[in-house]
Amino acid sequence: MKSFELRNAHFDRLVNTPDLRWLGQNTNHARPHPAVIEAMLHSIRDEEFHIYAPPAGFEELRAGIIADLGLEGFSALVSDGAVASLYHACHTLLGPGDEFITTDPTWNWPMAFARSVGASVKQIPIYGEEHSYRLAPERLAAAITPKTKVVYLVDPNNPLGTACTASEIDAIVEVVRAAGAYLIHDCTYRHFAYDHTLAATRYPERTLTIYSFSKWLGLAGLRVGAIVANPDIIEQLTAAPPNNLGSSILSQRAAIAGLGIKNEWFPGVLAQQRLNQRLIKEAISGIPGLALPVYPSNGNFVVLETHGAGITPEALVAGYQKRKIMIRQGAYHTPTFGDRFVKVSTSVPTEWIEEFTALLPEMVESARGLNETTKLF
Ligand SMILES: Cc1ncc(COP(=O)(O)O)c(C=O)c1O
Repeated sequence: MKSFELRNAHFDRLVNTPDLRWLGQNTNHARPHPAVIEAMLHSIRDEEFHIYAPPAGFEELRAGIIADLGLEGFSALVSDGAVASLYHACHTLLGPGDEFITTDPTWNWPMAFARSVGASVKQIPIYGEEHSYRLAPERLAAAITPKTKVVYLVDPNNPLGTACTASEIDAIVEVVRAAGAYLIHDCTYRHFAYDHTLAATRYPERTLTIYSFSKWLGLAGLRVGAIVANPDIIEQLTAAPPNNLGSSILSQRAAIAGLGIKNEWFPGVLAQQRLNQRLIKEAISGIPGLALPVYPSNGNFVVLETHGAGITPEALVAGYQKRKIMIRQGAYHTPTFGDRFVKVSTSVPTEWIEEFTALLPEMVESARGLNETTKLF
């Protein structure tokens, strides 16, 4: 079987595993607000699915996204999730000979999109205490070249959970502006951050803010997100979008309802997610060699370093998989640093985290010295 077929079949098995604990995908498993469910039921009952949604999204949703970001004067292009926005942006902005710069680790798919249109990709390593797990603007300045067309900044960073400070954003924006490049500011995890600064407020001319409903609202399977940018960039993007027939009408209704209940519902989700991070922190304090290099994390996940405990991430992941708990091996994010950590998602019921932490000593013990051959994806 081809490797894609294998990966897909594996994923299909996971999705169809009853009671699997999803601690590996940064998805949000909080109980939804009834208004979100009701909005979808209403849409189904009204059989709205017979029609196409407007190409750029419902006006109410577009306005709601702008208001949520506080980016008045900007324009939103609703998409089939942040990944579709990133695909669209890379295909529109990049071509052969252009350079795309991001960090290592980063979110990998945009690098594939950039390469697929002939651009070259450069990564700036940020993993490790020597870098404080963050991008120093001076290092971006040293890496940028006249060929750089796009800087892709995942902020908060997935998987690290670091978020840029306001002064870092100021300095990063200055570097990108001086190069005349675009800044794709992937803010998929913004809602989980303690503090977050939108680069678009500093560099409105050429910043594309990427927005997702998958994480904060928990709609990953519904596929809805957006690109927010100045109206000229949005106009340029509407020339050849990947889906000009409008994103799922059902998903958009859920997203509109979600924005309506956000202030009432999301603080509880955030508090639980932060408590879950704390439980992991407490659990690892009793296990020599494990560490949380970024704590607290500004995402809905933590990086758990395993190399100090003499175990491979793959062995730990495989052990948990046998117990129907999915966590993510670092190599999924970065070949260079992937042997050092696993990633654990925390926007989940606290019982799932308690199951994870209760098993941890046993899992570490059984992973030690294990030459794990289990295939991981
Ligand atoms: C940094 C980052 N950007 C984008 C996405 C994709 O988001 P969406 O589900 O909205 O397509 C993810 C998903 O994990 C992500 O981690």
